[in-house]
Amino acid sequence: MEMLLFGVQALLALIPCPGAAEELFEVSVWPDQAVVKYGQSLVVNCSTTCPDPGPSGIETLLKKTQVGKGPQWKEFLLEDVTQNSVLQCFFSCAGVQKDISLGVTVYQPPEQVIMELQPAWVAVGEAFTVTCHVPSVTPLENLTLILLKDNQELHRKDFRNLAVASQRAEVTISAKAQREDDRCNFSCHAELDLSSHGGGLFHNSSAIRVLRIFGFPPPILEIQELYPLAGMDINVTCSGHVLTSPSPTLRLQGAPDLPAPGEPAWLLLTTSEEDDGRNLSCEASLEVQGQQLSKTTVIQLHVLYKPRLEESGCPGNQTWLEGMEQKLACVPKGNPTPALVCTWNGMIFDLDVPQKATLNHAGIYCCTATNHLGSASKDIAVIVQGLGEGVSSTIFIIIIVALGVGVITIALYLNYRPCKKERRKLPYRQKEKKKEEESQSAAQQAEKYNAHNC
Ligand SMILES: *[C@@H]1O[C@H](CO)[C@@H](O)[C@H](O)[C@H]1NC(C)=O
Ligand SMILES: *[C@@H]1O[C@H](CO)[C@@H](O)[C@H](O)[C@H]1NC(C)=O
Ligand SMILES: *[C@@H]1O[C@H](CO)[C@@H](O)[C@H](O)[C@H]1NC(C)=O
Ligand SMILES: *[C@@H]1O[C@H](CO)[C@@H](O)[C@H](O)[C@H]1NC(C)=O
Ligand SMILES: *[C@@H]1O[C@H](CO)[C@@H](O)[C@H](O)[C@H]1NC(C)=O
Ligand SMILES: *[C@@H]1O[C@H](CO)[C@@H](O)[C@H](O)[C@H]1NC(C)=O
Ligand SMILES: *[C@@H]1O[C@H](CO)[C@@H](O)[C@H](O)[C@H]1NC(C)=O
Repeated sequence: MEMLLFGVQALLALIPCPGAAEELFEVSVWPDQAVVKYGQSLVVNCSTTCPDPGPSGIETLLKKTQVGKGPQWKEFLLEDVTQNSVLQCFFSCAGVQKDISLGVTVYQPPEQVIMELQPAWVAVGEAFTVTCHVPSVTPLENLTLILLKDNQELHRKDFRNLAVASQRAEVTISAKAQREDDRCNFSCHAELDLSSHGGGLFHNSSAIRVLRIFGFPPPILEIQELYPLAGMDINVTCSGHVLTSPSPTLRLQGAPDLPAPGEPAWLLLTTSEEDDGRNLSCEASLEVQGQQLSKTTVIQLHVLYKPRLEESGCPGNQTWLEGMEQKLACVPKGNPTPALVCTWNGMIFDLDVPQKATLNHAGIYCCTATNHLGSASKDIAVIVQGLGEGVSSTIFIIIIVALGVGVITIALYLNYRPCKKERRKLPYRQKEKKKEEESQSAAQQAEKYNAHNC
């Protein structure tokens, strides 16, 4: 609005008025550029060259008071300047009015420069941010924020080209923490340069913040003997990484007590076959700024031992179903992994290829597992269950069930004649005994198979 008004007046001033000597008069203002600190006041002297000026004054929205006057000048006090504005001084001379405008720029120097490091303690290789913020500084276009690291410029930002809406006197940078950054002094410097507005240069700095970098690689876990034999005593040692500062607290799994600070934790271990594949772990912990941090190192123990053929991995009795694809099941234990060879009727039997089971496959197989520490052998009895056998056993079960039902019925019936009960039971008992004998002879036969050795 003001600008528009001024534009129109400027246009009017340009329109030539015919023949008036008074047209030669001039209007001037002092100062010709005004920079005023926010809320402060400004003295403006409007003057003219017109020898006998008519009505004159100052046009502004600010609170104004005339504080001085001469034949060709008027001085005004403008108070409580809080916004940029343009004011006009005007004089008329023999019916012609002329004016001059004065731009008033309000400024606020950087009274507070706030810089923060996030986090104040950072692990090597991790990101940290430096933020600098200057509350209520103006005009932003003339502000420059400079981030310094040990008094060297790290980053510089000005606000000349930013859209008004997004303006905030702030700068943030992110960086990866390097070991050399430890104990570096960071600070932020703010500069408000009003020289182009006829003002001065204002600057201020933030307090220094010191960045702390800590190193925390996982602890070092070592086994004296990388591939111990079963039964060997080994020293397991856990120590803090040399780059860890300050030194961490170490907890070695299985070690009886905590070592003194800076000392390694160790454990004397008598290895057994069961320890093969077991994981040993060591945890290092460090307190940083009241926060408990921890890192764990795990290593796997490899214990060497000679082959073993256990019932669980290599059963001594195996039953195959006739007509089904079958494999001899035998997984030896041992470290290094043993090689397994099985023979059947004096021939090497391929364990990897499934066999269509026939009654001929029944028999004793002999398996031998070998690694460089030794070998172990075992006989495996394979029984092939024929399909016919399966059918006859089903019929057998049906007969047993039918017999059972019959016996119960008879027993219930005999309950009505208690005196004859015992005599009637006898035939049934004899049958039971006969069955026991049958199964016993089958067991003896199987034992005979097993007695045979490779
Ligand atoms: C105002 O400006 C005029 C013209 O430059 C000058 O003569 C006068 O002394 C000034 N007034 C004051 C109070 O400085
Ligand atoms: C600079 O900042 C400090 C504190 O932030 C403040 O006390 C001081 O007045 C400021 N200096 C200037 C020139 O604004
Ligand atoms: C201050 O800002 C104004 C407006 O963007 C610009 O014209 C002027 O050159 C700036 N002055 C300095 C010293 O940067
Ligand atoms: C960081 O600042 C402190 C004082 O504030 C000073 O003693 C130290 O030398 C500075 N360090 C560097 C690397 O400049
Ligand atoms: C195990 O190693 C640690 C560290 O090297 C050592 O201090 C400790 O005496 C060793 N223990 C035995 C029983 O050798
Ligand atoms: C030991 O750790 C490895 C991986 O590091 C894992 O694959 C294995 O299963 C662990 N063994 C045991 C016994 O937990
Ligand atoms: C195999 O079975 C027979 C009888 O069924 C038994 O006597 C023998 O102990 C078993 N052998 C193994 C190794 O389990």
